[in-house]
Amino acid sequence: MRILIKKARILDPSQDLDFVGDLLIEEGKIKGFDKRIEGVEGCKIIDAEGLWCFPGLVDMHVHLREPGEEWKEDIETGTRAALCGGVLRIACMPNTKPPIDSPELVKFVLEKAREKASVKVYPIACITKGQKGEELTEFGRLKEAGAVGVSDDGKWVPNSEIMRRALLYARQFDLPVISHCEDPALSKGGSINLGKMSAKLGLKGIPASAEVVAVFRDLFLARETGGPLHLAHISLKDSIKVLKWAKEEGIPFTAETCPHYFTLTEKEVDGYNTFAKVNPPLRTEEDVEAIKEALKEGILEVIASDHAPHSPLEKEVEFELASPGMIGLQTLLPLSYKLVEEGVLSPIKCLKCLITNPARILRIEPPSVKIGKNAELILFDPREEYIFTQELIKSKSYNTPFLNKKLKGRVKKVILCNFLHTLC
Ligand code: DOR
Repeated sequence: MRILIKKARILDPSQDLDFVGDLLIEEGKIKGFDKRIEGVEGCKIIDAEGLWCFPGLVDMHVHLREPGEEWKEDIETGTRAALCGGVLRIACMPNTKPPIDSPELVKFVLEKAREKASVKVYPIACITKGQKGEELTEFGRLKEAGAVGVSDDGKWVPNSEIMRRALLYARQFDLPVISHCEDPALSKGGSINLGKMSAKLGLKGIPASAEVVAVFRDLFLARETGGPLHLAHISLKDSIKVLKWAKEEGIPFTAETCPHYFTLTEKEVDGYNTFAKVNPPLRTEEDVEAIKEALKEGILEVIASDHAPHSPLEKEVEFELASPGMIGLQTLLPLSYKLVEEGVLSPIKCLKCLITNPARILRIEPPSVKIGKNAELILFDPREEYIFTQELIKSKSYNTPFLNKKLKGRVKKVILCNFLHTLC
C-alpha cells in the first residue's frame, strides 16, 4: 500500500524540519519527502493543503488505571483516546491497584498492551514497594522487564534518605526517577490552591510551599548524587525560580508541566467544580505566565497530559471527597498548540516538548520523519475550531474542565504504519 500526502506543512522536531511539501509512504514506511513528489503510481492520495504533518506525540505521564480500576479506564480505551489525540507513545504511571512494583506487573502491562493497545505503551514502575515510601523496588529487574522509569506518582517520596538512595541506584541503570513534588506534611487535607479561591469557597488550601520544598529537596539530592531526576507536573512561579537556580548551578534534572497549568487558573474551581480538582492544584494568573515563560526559556522541557481518568463515582461527590485529576490525552495537542498561536513557542519548539524531549528522557526512540522509518504520523488542522463534547471522548471517563468548551486545532488523520485512521 502506498500513501502520498500532498501539500502538507511537514514538521519534525528531531531534525528541525519545517517545510511545505509531499510525503510518500510505502508498506508502512516513509519512502520519501520533498517539495513535490510526482509520477508515483497506485497511491492513495491525501490532499493535505493547510494541514500539518508531524510525528506522533510521546506523552510521558498517563494513568491507564489497569490493573485494578478498570471502571475509570483500561489499556484498550486509554490507548484509543491516545490514538485519537495524536499520541503514539505513552508512558503509564504505576499508581494502579496493585501498584506496578514488580517485574511481573510490568510484564502484565506490556502483555495487555500487546493484546489491546492502539499505541505503544511504556510502563513506569514504582520507586518504593507499594508506593509506601519505605523500601526501594528492584530497579534492575524492573528495567529488564521493560520499565522505562520509576515514580511514586500521586505521592512524593517523603523520606529524603530513601529518595537519595533511589537516585544513586537509578543512576546505575540509567532509569529516570520521576518525582511528584508535593510534601504531604504541607498539603495534607487541602484540595485546592491556597489563595483567594480557597478563601471564597471555604476549602482548605494547599500552600505553594508543598511543591517548592519538594522541588528544592529533590534538586539538591540530584546535585549530590548525579541521579537522573525528572520533576513531574510543575505548576508554580516559585518552583520555576528554584529550577532557574538549579540550572545556574549545573544540577542535572529535567522538568515537565501539563496543559492545565498554562491554560487554567484556580478560578476554574469556582462553583465547586470537581472536574477542575487536580494535584498539584490549578494556580493563579501569575503562575500561568511563569510556566509559559519557563517553556519558552527551555527550563521546562516537556508538556505531558497527566491523563487521570475518574468516573462519576469519584467526581460527582462533595468537592473535598472528589479524587483529583483530569483526562488529557485528547486535549494535549490543541491546548499545547495554543502556545504556538500566542507566540510563546515556535511550532518546532512546541513539538520538541511533545515528542523529542520526553522520548530523550525515557531513552526511547521518538517517531520521526526519516526515510526508512515506520510511518507514525499525524495530520493536524491548526485552523479547525470545535466543541469538545462527550461524544468525542474515547476515554471511559469524561472528567475534564474542557468538556463542552471550544478548542482550536484538531487531529484529522493518524497514519500508523499501514493503517490510516480517519478521525473526523
Ligand atoms: O491529579 C492527579 N491525579 N495528580 C496525580 O498526581 C495523580 C493523578 C491520579 O492518579 O488520579
